[in-house]
Amino acid sequence: MPDTLTITDNRTGKTYEVDITNETISAMDLRKIKVHDDDFGMMTYDPGYTNTASCSSSVTYIDGDKGILEYRGYPIEQLAEHCDFQEVAYLLLHGELPNASQLAEWTDSLKMHTMVHENIKEQMASFRYDAHAMGMLISTVASLSTFYPEAKKVHCAENRMIQAKRLIAKVPTLAAYAYRHSQGHPYNYPKNNLSYTENFLHMMFKMSDNPYKPEPALVRALDVLFILHADHEQNCSASVMRAIASSEADPYSALAGAAAALYGPLHGGANEAVLNMLRTIGDVKNIPDYVAKCKDGVHRLMGFGHRVYKNYDPRATIVKKCADDVFKVTGRNPLLDIALELEKIALEDEYFVKRKLYPNVDFYSGLIYQAIGLPVTMFPVMFAIPRTVGWLAQWQELMEDDERRIQRPRQVYLGERKRDFVPIDQRG
Ligand code: ACO
Repeated sequence: MPDTLTITDNRTGKTYEVDITNETISAMDLRKIKVHDDDFGMMTYDPGYTNTASCSSSVTYIDGDKGILEYRGYPIEQLAEHCDFQEVAYLLLHGELPNASQLAEWTDSLKMHTMVHENIKEQMASFRYDAHAMGMLISTVASLSTFYPEAKKVHCAENRMIQAKRLIAKVPTLAAYAYRHSQGHPYNYPKNNLSYTENFLHMMFKMSDNPYKPEPALVRALDVLFILHADHEQNCSASVMRAIASSEADPYSALAGAAAALYGPLHGGANEAVLNMLRTIGDVKNIPDYVAKCKDGVHRLMGFGHRVYKNYDPRATIVKKCADDVFKVTGRNPLLDIALELEKIALEDEYFVKRKLYPNVDFYSGLIYQAIGLPVTMFPVMFAIPRTVGWLAQWQELMEDDERRIQRPRQVYLGERKRDFVPIDQRG
């Protein structure tokens, strides 16, 4: 016997029974609740989808109240400690951690796809000198669909995996090209004897013929940051990925849309916004005034609060530790003192405590990116590189879901009805 929910409609006195499956009722079951036979039936109203499950998923588990994050059942803390990013990418896409030979095959096959067509390079070179790196990444990812028209065969699992590998391998190359473009420096081709993160740093920072060997601590920090950002279940950008892919668009077009959603300051643009905020505050003595303005609604405390976590974001704890390791190599970022003091004050302040506003993953990640030598415009790009894996895992799952339908929400229409047309010379 399934669990059920009994609903009484006080307009009619009628009682309805709906099944409860996985602690959820089906929104379609509410449609039988009607006053008249020809009514449309009851809907739910949920702006921002705060309490609506749009899919079932086995990729990422979050318990926001307890501060738990797991990829395919593995706690994020263990993955960040023991894995490199490519291993986690395999896990997210395949559902299981790879054994040694699977991992070797996986990393080799990603290396096969790191290069981009020379036309893509030329296309990137045509952006304005001051183009935002994220704008360059979004539009160039979309362009990739024109280079791989076979990506349209979204029902073929084998074809989907090839496109997924291409995207995971090429997005760092595009990201590095965007950075080099903004610096006015020649692009560095990928170097496939390096690890995923080493190769990325090489493409970013290698200058002319000088040997380039990134600090191992920075390579490891980047791996950890990439692992932490790889997926986060049905967030804004993952939902966009699924929404676009639900129309069976190719993954490059869908991923460009997901990246565009990530660009906003309330989502992946938050780390850029955090750094700008810390610079605006400028000095520890200015913090009380800044916090007071947050409480008055003048601005938000960027890097604080989360739709799902109503506890310390587990990723923020790991990022904070990661920041310590990086600063040992690069020297302390002076903005760190402001960040630490801001966090201390906010965690004690009743306004933030009452609303369960804790630091999120982006509160400290920007400080690390800055220490590595990245400009703020690269921060959302640094988020998009690993999240590419999460978007693709969500896409793969969607395409294999028997209950997949084109996404098409309903609305509560509150506008005018049945008005007669008025010729223009008779309008007030
Ligand atoms: N600073 C000050 N007040 C805040 C903040 C903040 N950062 N976040 C939420 N609040 C307040 C709101 O004003 C509201 O107060 P009220 O009840 O008095 O009106 C209450 O807390 C609830 O806020 P909502 O906007 O309803 O919360 P929601 O879940 O919709 O928003 C969000 C979550 C967008 C992340 C929000 O907390 C925010 O804007 N944070 C700053 C931006 C940020 O750091 N984003 C990164 C998110 S993590 C990521 O994408 C990887």
